[in-house]
Amino acid sequence: RTLLRSELPNAEILVVSNREPYIHNDDDGQIALQRPASGLVTALEPIMRACGGTWVAHGSGSADRLTVDENDHIQVPPEAPTYTLRRIWLSEEEQDGYYFGLANEGLWPLCHIAFVRPVFRSSDWEHYVAVNRKFADAVVAECKTTNPTVLIQDYHFALLPAMIREKLPDATIITFWHIPWPNPEVFSICPWKEELLSGLLGSSILGFHTQFHCLNFLESVDRFLECHIDRERSNVRAGNATTLVRPYPISIEWPPLALAGQPPVPECRKRILERYGLKPSVRLAVGVERFDYTKGIADRFRAVGSLLERHPEWIERFTLVQVAAPTRSRLEAYRDTQVEAQNQADAINNRFGTDNWKPIILVPTHHEPDEVFTLFRAADICLVSSLHDGMNLVAKEFVAARDDEDGVLILSTFAGASRELHEALIVNPYDIQAMGEALADGLSMPAEQRRDRMRLMREIVGEHNIYFWAGRMLLDASRIRKRSNLERQIA
Ligand code: F6P
Repeated sequence: RTLLRSELPNAEILVVSNREPYIHNDDDGQIALQRPASGLVTALEPIMRACGGTWVAHGSGSADRLTVDENDHIQVPPEAPTYTLRRIWLSEEEQDGYYFGLANEGLWPLCHIAFVRPVFRSSDWEHYVAVNRKFADAVVAECKTTNPTVLIQDYHFALLPAMIREKLPDATIITFWHIPWPNPEVFSICPWKEELLSGLLGSSILGFHTQFHCLNFLESVDRFLECHIDRERSNVRAGNATTLVRPYPISIEWPPLALAGQPPVPECRKRILERYGLKPSVRLAVGVERFDYTKGIADRFRAVGSLLERHPEWIERFTLVQVAAPTRSRLEAYRDTQVEAQNQADAINNRFGTDNWKPIILVPTHHEPDEVFTLFRAADICLVSSLHDGMNLVAKEFVAARDDEDGVLILSTFAGASRELHEALIVNPYDIQAMGEALADGLSMPAEQRRDRMRLMREIVGEHNIYFWAGRMLLDASRIRKRSNLERQIA
């Protein structure tokens, strides 16, 4: 946090993302607030609370202009406002084309190895360009200075960096891509690959979670654009502009806000077991995600089946509570994912369940951060079986929730988090039997080993927290600024 402040003396900060940090819904004339299920929001919100500034995002709640002033500004967080939320309103066609279409039927499956075919429609692309332009205009209109620091988030806004650069040549533009970047062969599927790459190269810094994704990006630039790549310095020079391309593994606030006010672990456990009608002796695993096909939810259910088949001693003694927030449900691939997971849970419950016990409890509803943390604290095991994931902050939140230094994390090798959390039980989610064995190992792991593993993971997440993430990017940005000032003076 100190680094953040020292790197931002008097700087004007703007964050741009599709997802807004607080959704304002109209509940019979009253405003009801919801925190979205979004790793991006989990990560960025503490930064904005610490730095202040303006967050520009798509307005998604039903309480549209009820709460806002004539400039569409809301001061947040509601309990103690420190920054401004500027909501951008999109028509249904814009949302269909830009968000559901190009972003989530095109770029999302393009960037994740989940074997869902990307769909690219020209009409979606036109909306994507127009919405990026709409956000660029809003950012420029919000700026009070000519050299703000703009933090652009994710695959919804690949064109935004160049559009902002055009209007604000002195801005420091830091773009963070929250999902994986594919290899050039896969990326070449996209009909607008050159436009996306040129758009992103409007950034001063372009961040990914892992070195591997940075290399994929550099290879893509090398293959499809004419520009100079300096692999040693990890940057790309196009015309006069240079973009630093580096890994900045994202993280969470430490300690997280949702931890404050949590009851002690035994109380959390009692509450959760009672809520789901489970016996006090039952060992509990939890999964928490959006209902996304990249998360491997049906696969982890199959792993529960494998555990019970190969280790029948866990029948009636183990339950997985899976919380899954519905997401992007307008898309068929997402509806299919829900149906497949529900069918899989039913099949395993029918096969192994008894009159008073079910091995899988699937709760397909949104949960607020406090509820999620209680669940984490109640659990013996947290199971993250993503088929592919940029980072996966659920894994880090589980670690942060366990101030009792207990609990086992089972983590997919295809989540970026596995590059940092080596003390998790690392699994291949495509290997169902091995995942079942990891559950068995986790359930029988001695307390001392659980503590030693958890302690190490807590050290890593505590140290490399979200302030460290933002601080490193801002420090790099400030060095870039100082160097170019010096170069200008010398010239
Ligand atoms: O991190 C990937 C991401 O797509 C974020 O951009 C987003 O906020 C989150 O997952 C949830 O997705 P959505 O905003 O589409 O519900």
